[in-house]
Amino acid sequence: MIRLEDIKKDYVNNKNCTHALRGVDLHIREGSFTGIIGTSGSGKSTLLNIIGGMDTPTEGKYYFYDELISDYNSEKLQKFRKKNISFVFQNFALMNRYSVYENVEMPLLIRKVKNKKKIVMDCLEQMGIADMAKKYPTQLSGGQQQRCAIARALAADTPLLLADEPTGALDQKTGADIIDCFKAVHKSGKTVILITHDMNVAARCEEIIKIEDGLIQL
Ligand SMILES: Nc1ncnc2c1ncn2[C@@H]1O[C@H](COP(=O)(O)OP(=O)(O)OP(=O)(O)O)[C@@H](O)[C@H]1O
Ligand SMILES: [Mg+2]
Repeated sequence: MIRLEDIKKDYVNNKNCTHALRGVDLHIREGSFTGIIGTSGSGKSTLLNIIGGMDTPTEGKYYFYDELISDYNSEKLQKFRKKNISFVFQNFALMNRYSVYENVEMPLLIRKVKNKKKIVMDCLEQMGIADMAKKYPTQLSGGQQQRCAIARALAADTPLLLADEPTGALDQKTGADIIDCFKAVHKSGKTVILITHDMNVAARCEEIIKIEDGLIQL
């Protein structure tokens, strides 16, 4: 599904240059569940952002199936993201002025999908928060907010779900429940890639990629 060939990413600020990725080769199978681990600053988020089309590599090739994503301009990247990528963040990134229902409905409005109500309620049901539909994110616990964010990703119905430290703000037990939610999404046929510092979370991934100093460790 995903193939990275000698991906490099440099961040240049003033006269400082950070080599965040220094030649990453990677293959991600369709339908896999992958965890990315590595110390702080090793390049995990940079890698995930490139895979998600939120950032572009300085050098190297990124193939998504047969498409050469690393050649895309920002307009094509935006279309690529809309069609293929959902993101879940450590801080949930919900819209606090909208209800749980409305948050999950958002990707369907963007895509002009019909039968929105059934889809939204199904997604909330799957994440075990159907009874929270009318509440607002600030009225929910962290775990419930993350369930809402995953329900939103589910509603978007993209083949690839990416998550940057999705359990980072949660306690051990709640984090384990959230990984169950990702497992359910995976079982429904999605490819999942998540970043984690938590070895208990990593242990539940099918594949583990370790990155250190901008390079994948074998
Ligand atoms: N926008 C940016 N501008 C300049 N340098 C950056 C930028 N984003 C990341 N970096 C640098 O690139 C390197 C890799 O950063 P990245 O965010 O990918 O690390 P990470 O593995 O996700 O770390 P953490 O576990 O702390 O989130 C770091 O040295 C970081 O300081
Ligand atoms: Mg990071």
